Amino acid sequence: MVAPFITFEGIDGCGKSTQLRLLASALRLRGMEVCVTREPGGTPLGARLREVLLEADEQVDPLAELLLFAADRAQHVRALVQPALQSGRVVLSDRYADATVAYQGAGRGFSAAFVEEVVTLATGGLMPDLTLVIDLPVAESRARAQRRRRNGLELDRLDAEDTTFHERVREAYLQLAAREPERIRLIDAAGAVEETHARVLEIVIPFLEVWSSESKI
Ligand code: TYD
Repeated sequence: MVAPFITFEGIDGCGKSTQLRLLASALRLRGMEVCVTREPGGTPLGARLREVLLEADEQVDPLAELLLFAADRAQHVRALVQPALQSGRVVLSDRYADATVAYQGAGRGFSAAFVEEVVTLATGGLMPDLTLVIDLPVAESRARAQRRRRNGLELDRLDAEDTTFHERVREAYLQLAAREPERIRLIDAAGAVEETHARVLEIVIPFLEVWSSESKI
């Protein structure tokens, strides 16, 4: 691909969406063309799937859930991510394939091999060049999510899962980062927003310098 694909991951309430927005502004200030997107919901079809996935008021079967996330991703990769990368725009996505490994694999209990098969089918093998896991203990992220709820934002179907579910998801992200240290970088998000942003820049700026020196952009 012409431009780098960077994804943000982490448990609900970790602050990754804020960090993604701050990074997008910082890169634009440096004159880069940036495409900001998310999963689920990065395309018009995905926006409808997002509603179905997060707001369903019936019991959603775990396999149906896994396949709906995969459907969202298949559309997202082909209609948005690949064309943006080909046109030279840095793509920043709020969640991608690692979320399925963490939530549907570790969270719901699907086997790693099965999740990987479904993920590969959906992505066509396109993996991020860099993934930032915004890491926060579950208790702290729950507290942040609660504050968000008091500010009028509803908890979605997955936010509402219990603490042990979110512990499994966090553990899965930590394991992914340990397994792929080159691609996946852990960022401690326990401090203030600005401190976390500085940590994000410390990783992303050198990464982009190497990328452009290899004249990929
Ligand atoms: P997100 O947009 O991060 O939620 P928020 O609105 O709280 O910022 O993600 C929506 C939810 O979808 C989140 O709980 C994680 C879940 N999810 C999965 O379970 N599997 C996936 O593959 C993806 C992309 C998201």
